[in-house]
Amino acid sequence: MPFDDHGNLVPGVLPATRSVPHAITRPPYVGLQEPPPYVGDNTYTEDEIAKIRAAGRIASRALDAVGAAVVPGVTTAELDRIGHDAVVSAGAYPSTLGYRGYPASSCTSVNEVICHGIPDDTVLREGDIVNVDITAYLDGFHGDTNRTFRVGAVSEEVDLLIERTHEAMMRGIKAAKPGREVNVIGRVIETYAKRFGYGVVRDFTGHGVGSSFHTGLIVPHYDSAPRFNDVIVPGMVFTVEPMLTLGTHEWDMWADDWTVTTRDKSITAQFEHTIVVRENGFELLTLSE
Ligand code: MF3
Ligand code: CO
Ligand code: CO
Repeated sequence: MPFDDHGNLVPGVLPATRSVPHAITRPPYVGLQEPPPYVGDNTYTEDEIAKIRAAGRIASRALDAVGAAVVPGVTTAELDRIGHDAVVSAGAYPSTLGYRGYPASSCTSVNEVICHGIPDDTVLREGDIVNVDITAYLDGFHGDTNRTFRVGAVSEEVDLLIERTHEAMMRGIKAAKPGREVNVIGRVIETYAKRFGYGVVRDFTGHGVGSSFHTGLIVPHYDSAPRFNDVIVPGMVFTVEPMLTLGTHEWDMWADDWTVTTRDKSITAQFEHTIVVRENGFELLTLSE
């Protein structure tokens, strides 16, 4: 059922809503239709950065646990359960659960799903790929990260797409230096991706993150200059999370209002880190160690 006769993904059956112990503090938007407006800039004190790092470590470790479970035969709902349990066991809240009505603790985006795939009874097959995106909320701060996993062995074309999407993210991160405009990040990513003829998704972007899940700062992954000219400064925190495709950058939205696929059903990969800009470079805030 979760794949049609052409091998394309179709909506499956969602698991029951997962529970979070009452002792774990919810972000302010849970139970609301949308988050309260964010007031504040995108820079943080060292104490605040330490809290984003602590949340980010929980999200990254949850991805470690999920990644170890990615094998042919596993469902995306089971991957979500593993990620949920890892976040909650660490005392954090899975930020996506109840964010603008999103029903799960992670996004699981399979093959042609660009982002925001909802975990369901889809059984992963050898050769599929799945991006898992987890955000943890701890002590008032979010850490947001995702990785694309291979289900068993994948084709060389897909293997290279995954490798190069990770490389594109790292190149974008390394381009983020004080004094430059945010649009430098996407320029570097798009230039690299175009070498291989990949599609570069434009309409879903990186973002400021910290005390708010999405602060309003937008970080494009394509060359958007002269727009998105916010000047990068030390202490600024945001995500870099490029989505590259083997075909078009155009997309379709499923009737669930969340799942975004490539319009041509081409395979797509993504990686995401939350970073803080330093005087002399950057620090990754979504590492496991
Ligand atoms: N974690 C995603 C991001 O990278 C956002 C997911 S929002 C959701 O920005 F509601 F779809 F979960
Ligand atoms: Co993000
Ligand atoms: Co994310």
